Amino acid sequence: MALFFRKSRDEADERAEVDPSFAVSRVSRETPAAHSGIVLPHGPRRAAYDRREDDPGANVNDEATDDAEARDPRLTLPRPSSPRVFVVANQKGGVGKTTTAVNIAAALAFGGLNVLVVDADPQGNASTALGVEHDAGTPGTYQVLLEGARIADLVQRYPHTPNLHVLPATIDLATAELELVNEPGRETRMKRALTDYITASDVDYIFVDCPPSLGLLTLNALVASTELMVPIQCEYYALEGVSQLMRTINKVKGNLNDSLELSTVVLTMFDARNNLSREVASEVRNYFPSQTLDVEIPRSVRIAEAPSYAQTVLTYQPRSAGAVAYVKAAEQIAQAAVVEKEK
Ligand SMILES: Nc1ncnc2c1ncn2[C@@H]1O[C@H](COP(=O)(O)OP(=O)(O)OP(=O)(O)O)[C@@H](O)[C@H]1O
Ligand SMILES: [Mg+2]
Repeated sequence: MALFFRKSRDEADERAEVDPSFAVSRVSRETPAAHSGIVLPHGPRRAAYDRREDDPGANVNDEATDDAEARDPRLTLPRPSSPRVFVVANQKGGVGKTTTAVNIAAALAFGGLNVLVVDADPQGNASTALGVEHDAGTPGTYQVLLEGARIADLVQRYPHTPNLHVLPATIDLATAELELVNEPGRETRMKRALTDYITASDVDYIFVDCPPSLGLLTLNALVASTELMVPIQCEYYALEGVSQLMRTINKVKGNLNDSLELSTVVLTMFDARNNLSREVASEVRNYFPSQTLDVEIPRSVRIAEAPSYAQTVLTYQPRSAGAVAYVKAAEQIAQAAVVEKEK
């Protein structure tokens, strides 16, 4: 059973001796907001790890950055006063839901926070990106929703940091929507399981990665969460579907989960050289002025490649522009909780 029980100082120090990455990922609720930041992992790097000559698709946005803030190993992020549960949803496919969920989750974990990613998509992309086992038959989200299994018994650890855990999804989840239809409490099953996990663990952030639909899997995630994160791809038709998503959210709010708020919009696959990309970003910012994160996630070959190495871009190419952008996004999210508390 893998839980985020806080370790005693001695245990943690011992652990840090054998696994140096553990030392930088320990959590301090006492970290002052003003000193917060992110600890980047010392993950594997290619020798020439920025633009390669044999990589014609390499984007200028992939230039390495000298962002000192992103590399400062002394900094950690502030913990929220209570666990924050995000549903990452947009019924439009391929907009960057999974990429955003896993990379922001990893950035928060490398900042020292305890993070859980729930893969609620039968495609299992979040499980792939986080390098956890998810062959058919591997217990995960299906067993939690259909068989009442406990999340804490089924989570697996992202191999690159001790404080990021994943509830995997397998192809078995594909039939869950149909099987749930006649089950009692079909919309609230994930909520019950997450409430149990939060009580039994020391988790700070939970991200539920949804499939590109508004069916029972997404509904379970919407009911279980307090914050909605919507990734929007900076391309034509970007806002298509967002009004449908907002109607669904309002229905969920009125019926099953009053606490759900759209708190975070993430602009993904942004290409600063492209007028359309800039126009879409500006339109989204007009539409969601307070919710849209300051940083745009650049279109980046490194981000797209990382899952094929069963990694987030934070370990695959920690200094790439994509990794730095996700770190900044995570930092703004973590800081928002502190500002909110101080209001
Ligand atoms: N910033 C980026 N730069 C380049 N490629 C990206 C970026 N973000 C995501 N991608 C790629 O775009 C594709 C879709 O991304 P992703 O799987 O995260 O979207 P999704 O919304 O979760 O998709 P689905 O709706 O199928 O679940 C993937 O191949 C991913 O690697
Ligand atoms: Mg996805």
